[in-house]
Amino acid sequence: MSSRDGEAELLVASSDATFARLGADVIRGIWDDCPGGATILATGWTPIPVFRELAARHTRGELSTPQCPIVQLDEYVGVEDSDPRSLYAWLDREFLTPLEIDASSVIRLRGTTADSEEECSRFEAAVAAVGGLHLAVLGLGPNGHVGFNEPPSGPTARTRVVPLSPESMASNARYWNGAEVPVEGITAGLDLLLAADVVVLLVAGAHKREILRRSVAGPESPEVPASYLRRVSRLIIVADDDAAAGLTPEEIGSRHQPRI
Ligand code: PGA
Repeated sequence: MSSRDGEAELLVASSDATFARLGADVIRGIWDDCPGGATILATGWTPIPVFRELAARHTRGELSTPQCPIVQLDEYVGVEDSDPRSLYAWLDREFLTPLEIDASSVIRLRGTTADSEEECSRFEAAVAAVGGLHLAVLGLGPNGHVGFNEPPSGPTARTRVVPLSPESMASNARYWNGAEVPVEGITAGLDLLLAADVVVLLVAGAHKREILRRSVAGPESPEVPASYLRRVSRLIIVADDDAAAGLTPEEIGSRHQPRI
């Protein structure tokens, strides 16, 4: 890794249950170390088992409601909160409600405002007002996107509206049950995500293996927006066996590769 790179860790889970537990342990540990640090969270399939594990711990009384500001990562343009397929509805269903987080305390990024530029500026100012992001929990798009920072997105890409790539639309089609997939998204900028103190990248499945390798072991490129995640102060990759197969700690500059 070059000198501008931070610390990277690769944690490999040997089963689905371990993936959920490991992801939850990592996130909980970061919250415990910095209880007020703003946390931005991805939706999509990959984080769901981790969120459910956090929710189960909360229900059992083992985890209290996080006290940190929660920040929305992205949204489809033109899709209302009341649509169960909106990304906010996912976040609410899988994370906010189970962990009893008051929706009014969430820093929103809405896809239905009349003026999206104003929405992006308001969002950036609201994140800055809470001291920037402490933790970013991200998934990895099949084309290397993070949030809706679609290729090409460089490290200075701001919070903005983006046309969704054909790969993302194809990947998202499974959430839309044959209905027309939205063609635009609004996303927190890569600039903001790269400034987080800690990024936890959750990656599962053999279909993510190649893009994970390109993201963490290939050259930095706007064509693989996730390749810039190696610049963050602390990157923790939680992957399952299928996604991490063949990836060595040396390739990502990690000193340790616990397989749990
Ligand atoms: P997934 O989505 O977790 O549903 O695979 C990841 C992404 O597209 O960011």
